[in-house]
Amino acid sequence: MRGGGAVSAGSRGVLGVVGTAADGVEQLRTGLVEPAIALGWQVAVTLTPNAGQWLRANGELDRLETVTGLPVRDTPRLPTEARPHPVANCYVVAPASANYVAKLATGIADNQALTQVSEALGTIDVPVVVFPRVNAAHVRHPAWDRHVAALRKADVELIHGPDVWPLYEPREGPAVRQLPWAVITESIQHVTARAARHPL
Ligand SMILES: Cc1cc2nc3c(=O)[nH]c(=O)nc-3n(C[C@H](O)[C@H](O)[C@H](O)COP(=O)(O)O)c2cc1C
Repeated sequence: MRGGGAVSAGSRGVLGVVGTAADGVEQLRTGLVEPAIALGWQVAVTLTPNAGQWLRANGELDRLETVTGLPVRDTPRLPTEARPHPVANCYVVAPASANYVAKLATGIADNQALTQVSEALGTIDVPVVVFPRVNAAHVRHPAWDRHVAALRKADVELIHGPDVWPLYEPREGPAVRQLPWAVITESIQHVTARAARHPL
């Protein structure tokens, strides 16, 4: 789908959903997008170029466009093109690869999925929820703690910790592992309710 089209406005506002090339992004539609639409959000999906390749290959990108009524973005628009998505009231990045977390935390915005969320970090009243889909090796990287601290300083709601996502060594986790979609959805509801109660 290109250039938008008739889209039903969600009563809660626009949720920008960002997916990256990490395990579990294949369930983005059933785990996050469809439940968010059912809760009253209008959902606009953006993928990193790598995640775009994955979901185009398995047919999910087309299905995401059908359920959201909007094009899925995985490339930037040309300066002469209209913005294909409405302005988001909240962003959620799930799953976020270790690569995406590092780039976001250090202000790198070299694809559309990073550009949108980087700008949201500095925008008043646009809450951002991030679920890093990482393993024990990712978090032992010497820069990891700095990245987490930078995102927390920017008021990002990080879904991270042993209660919600226990860490395994690379290639040692369970073969099939559901992402904590219910926790991610609850966090979106929580941060948007908090932003409405305490506007800056
Ligand atoms: C099958 C597969 C699964 C992967 N799963 C993860 C993952 O769960 N977490 C992660 O941080 N990286 C994972 N990676 C590595 C990322 O895809 C890689 O770092 C990539 O550059 C991330 O690109 P992006 O952040 O632009 O989407 C995986 C790679 C492959 C091929």
